[in-house]
Amino acid sequence: MDIKNRIAEKAAAFTGVPESDVLGFFETPPSPDKGDIALPCFKFARAMRKAPPVIAQELAKGFEGFEGIVRAEPLSGYLNFFLDRGDEAKKTVLRVLEEGERFGSSDDGAGRNVCIDFSSINICKPFGIHHVTTTVLGHSLSRIFRHLGFTPVRINHLGDWGTQFGKMLVAYKKWGDRRTIENAGSPTRELVALYVKFHQEAEKDPSLDDEARAAFRSIELHDPENWELYQWFKELTLREAERVYKLMGVEFDSYNGEAFYEDKMPAVIRELADKGVTTVDNGATIVDLSAYDMPPCMILKSNGGTIYPTRDITAAIYRKNTYDFYKNLYVVAYQQNLHFRQVFKTLELMGYDWAKDCVHVNFGMISMADQTFSTRKGNAIYLEDVLNKAIEKTKAIMMEKSPDLENMDEVARQVGVGAVVWGPLYSSRIKDFTFSWEKALNFEGETAPYAQYTHARCCSVLRKADGYDAEKADWSCLDNESCANLIKAMNTLPASIGSAAEKYEPYLISRNVIDICSAFNKFYFENRIMDEDEGVRCARLALTDAARIAIKTGLYLVGIEAPERM
Ligand code: ARG
Repeated sequence: MDIKNRIAEKAAAFTGVPESDVLGFFETPPSPDKGDIALPCFKFARAMRKAPPVIAQELAKGFEGFEGIVRAEPLSGYLNFFLDRGDEAKKTVLRVLEEGERFGSSDDGAGRNVCIDFSSINICKPFGIHHVTTTVLGHSLSRIFRHLGFTPVRINHLGDWGTQFGKMLVAYKKWGDRRTIENAGSPTRELVALYVKFHQEAEKDPSLDDEARAAFRSIELHDPENWELYQWFKELTLREAERVYKLMGVEFDSYNGEAFYEDKMPAVIRELADKGVTTVDNGATIVDLSAYDMPPCMILKSNGGTIYPTRDITAAIYRKNTYDFYKNLYVVAYQQNLHFRQVFKTLELMGYDWAKDCVHVNFGMISMADQTFSTRKGNAIYLEDVLNKAIEKTKAIMMEKSPDLENMDEVARQVGVGAVVWGPLYSSRIKDFTFSWEKALNFEGETAPYAQYTHARCCSVLRKADGYDAEKADWSCLDNESCANLIKAMNTLPASIGSAAEKYEPYLISRNVIDICSAFNKFYFENRIMDEDEGVRCARLALTDAARIAIKTGLYLVGIEAPERM
């Protein structure tokens, strides 16, 4: 049992205050020389009808000879506990070594599905840097939930339906060339260029818009030729997106996008009407949400066409029926706050009590600090370019630092990708974020390469030591400040993982990983790991091994790989 629980149990028995309350009282002393855990005794004053200093004195006696504590010291109304650091270190290290990469995991979520709608790119549109946050947050959340026993359902809700595909079709038929597009390094860019051209031409010749509407209609009717072309556009975009996902190690369980719901919408539209949720306003079918201070949620345009919210309402019902989700998450930028509030409210009005399990995991905007990719108007910054550039830059740095590294390309990929994705993973998701090369590729600052480098350092220490025997460890040598800090940082990881899942905030794990890394580096510089004394050496190596596992696990949970050599 955790030392805090044991202290709380004892203090509860002594004071008559419930143990669960006592657990909430604990504080951290202002400085380490005042102890490791503080219990403010004024919290017991009312129950015990005594002055806090008196309570502290009496309680202190009760903790004499208490296992895991070297002493309990009363100080101005507080009782300060000095933990037996060697013992604490032993317990933590052995736990981490035993759990390995399952450290901090649980089976709390067993038998429960969590749908995670993330990345959700648009067909025939750039897979831009602005899609990095949803991609890495969703990827990380899926790993966090799996670590806690849940079954994540990773959904790429493709933007693959709408009148824009009619425009695409017209543009392709007028100006496109199949071979050129197929053979282009980036077919998406060819398609985007055609799309841009369509808009330029349509300004001069509005009849193009009519053609586009008719073309989309033909897609809706599955006209064989146009349907085939539309599928081909999708295939081209996805093939290219796959390259990006592969670089990042991101995977999906479903690519059911907007088009998938085309034949499922009529039933939902009927259900909305039958339940009296929708009304007709100027020919359009809407859900009046004025009672909830929201503009109406559009279901059918006046021309009878369905739109984005119609598909999301249908998709949510489909997901409930298919996956019986425990939670249904949407990792989408805060620009869509209103959209999701409208969708969730509509589901609630339909009588679905599971509407409360739908969560919009929103996040802030991303921008580029460096001008490397100039944001000329309409000139998107492709995520693939940013990743490749980071990999290239990383490789150049490594060529200098460790020219003999074996699988240089693979390591450069792992570190380069880590550098790019770190930013959105290191702050509360709602904060806007500015990407800068200098910050990202810093091996010293609070970055992914720094954490990866620390992990590789642990591996290198262990490699050189060529094994150790934890049974022979003299744990009492792990009682200094730097060891205690490292132990503490590792000990908080399981709780950080839990909070990250509860708040949908992977950064709580990234920060904890950085704490472990800085604590390890301090320990590394202040303690001679390869001590002559075998007991000391084994204890320090075991601690290093535990740090390696904790860092690797934490990084894995935020979707970052940890190479063994750098
Ligand atoms: N494709 C949309 C976009 O890029 C995001 C879709 C998010 N998911 C959803 N179910 N609406 O803006």
